[in-house]
Amino acid sequence: MSRQLPPGPVLDRRRFLALSAGAGATLLAGCATGKAAAPVLVGPGSPRISQLEQARSRPGQRSVDAVLKATPGEVDLGAARVSTWTYGGELPGREIRVRRGDLLRVRLQNGLPQPTTVHWHGLALRNDMDGVPVLTQPEVAPGASFDYAFTVPDAGTYWFHPHVGVQLDRGLYAPLIVEDPDEAGGYDQELVVVFDDWLDGTGRNPDQVLAGLLANGMGGMDMSGMDMGGGSGGMTMPRSELLGGDAGDVVYPHYLANGRTADAPRTLDVRPGQRVRLRMINASGDTAFRVGVPGTSMTITHTDGFAVVPTSAEAVLLGMGERIDAVIKIPDAVVPLLGLAEGKDGITQVVLRSGLGAAPDAATAAKALLKRPVIQVNDLPAAEPVALTAREPDVVHAVKLGGPEPGYTWTINGRTYDPAAGLPVREGQRVRLRFENTTTMFHPMHLHGHTFQVRGAGGIGPRKDTAIVLPKQTIEVDFDADNAGQWLMHCHNVYHGEAGMMTVVSYLE
Ligand code: C2O
Ligand code: CU
Repeated sequence: MSRQLPPGPVLDRRRFLALSAGAGATLLAGCATGKAAAPVLVGPGSPRISQLEQARSRPGQRSVDAVLKATPGEVDLGAARVSTWTYGGELPGREIRVRRGDLLRVRLQNGLPQPTTVHWHGLALRNDMDGVPVLTQPEVAPGASFDYAFTVPDAGTYWFHPHVGVQLDRGLYAPLIVEDPDEAGGYDQELVVVFDDWLDGTGRNPDQVLAGLLANGMGGMDMSGMDMGGGSGGMTMPRSELLGGDAGDVVYPHYLANGRTADAPRTLDVRPGQRVRLRMINASGDTAFRVGVPGTSMTITHTDGFAVVPTSAEAVLLGMGERIDAVIKIPDAVVPLLGLAEGKDGITQVVLRSGLGAAPDAATAAKALLKRPVIQVNDLPAAEPVALTAREPDVVHAVKLGGPEPGYTWTINGRTYDPAAGLPVREGQRVRLRFENTTTMFHPMHLHGHTFQVRGAGGIGPRKDTAIVLPKQTIEVDFDADNAGQWLMHCHNVYHGEAGMMTVVSYLE
């Protein structure tokens, strides 16, 4: 491999282990002490990774090429013009659309002043294309580029974002839609909606927010950008009954749907009676969104790209990183698809325009939506064709979520991120993860490279790659260890993740 390694003595050693691994790297500890019995990791450079890719690819598969330029620039949010970082100058970045089984080839060009990577959120792709610095690839230095190439195995609504620091909380995100050529359809048009919480370019940036949180502990949040040292000082922390406690650590000045604030929304032209498939993505750093069209129920069809038994709902909660597909029948009026920043008093919308007339006032519409019941996503049953076969787990891993202490340290099983101290699994195992949330805040827990199945109310819950674990709650998820590699697992609150709430699901030979 001729990719240049950026400087950094600590990282280089691990990177060396990760990348030089032919048959797999040994655990750091074993390597350092020279113990013979050290378990052998299946690393991103292992031949097993290309074998698995070969099994996924098809002769004559179509390839789809794209160029992704991460770049500083100005965007117009509606309520404000901000300077930020985006893919290609657009917010969200331009959607990438492929079909299941395609070979996706993307050249990332890093025009940012920081190193970056791209992570393809939700895809069970080859481990060396997963975009996690140190663990699966070297960071891509400013001015450098990197070629991602992988077979896209499953249809669904996905997205991509950097996996370096808190870059995700700038404008670096875009949808990745994978179509299923065999899918029945049953809708007239599609609307992809990306929800986001926004602060970059409004007097502070995500790096400064993280620095403030780390320096001041909980309550480092602020609204002014001037008070990052003053604790919550009289201001109330975001709280939500639905989220069972704290609704976030950061209050944002803007909330966006497809890059726009509620007062200058995107609109979609529709006709009464049409069926519209909504593909909804929460790209936020620290905000869950309550989503719905007041007065209209939607039929939820997919969670994180995978089919569920179609279920009707009036409102649904989307944690950071989660996606929901739903079909709505357009009523005979102009209606908003609302995203309400849960516990944070923020509103955003896309207006569905089926006739003349003005959209209803967003605040009034929000009040109506807040009165409606919210469906429990973790209890939706997976559709039969995508449900895991019943099987007892071969291994059960406790995943205890802790923090913040001291200051702003978030932990998994009592420790902050250490790529050499992951949860061991072996190919072929059925693995159960038992998430126990000991904190007072919700955590959307995300596993790379796999789509687990939540053990819901009736046993068979939804297939997901990101699931909310509420405060004081324990949930169990199962997955088949069928995609060897080193896979990050973390809280998709980008500040929690950076403050330590990450670990690795680590395949051993
Ligand atoms: Cu969407 Cu590890 O992330
Ligand atoms: Cu968290």
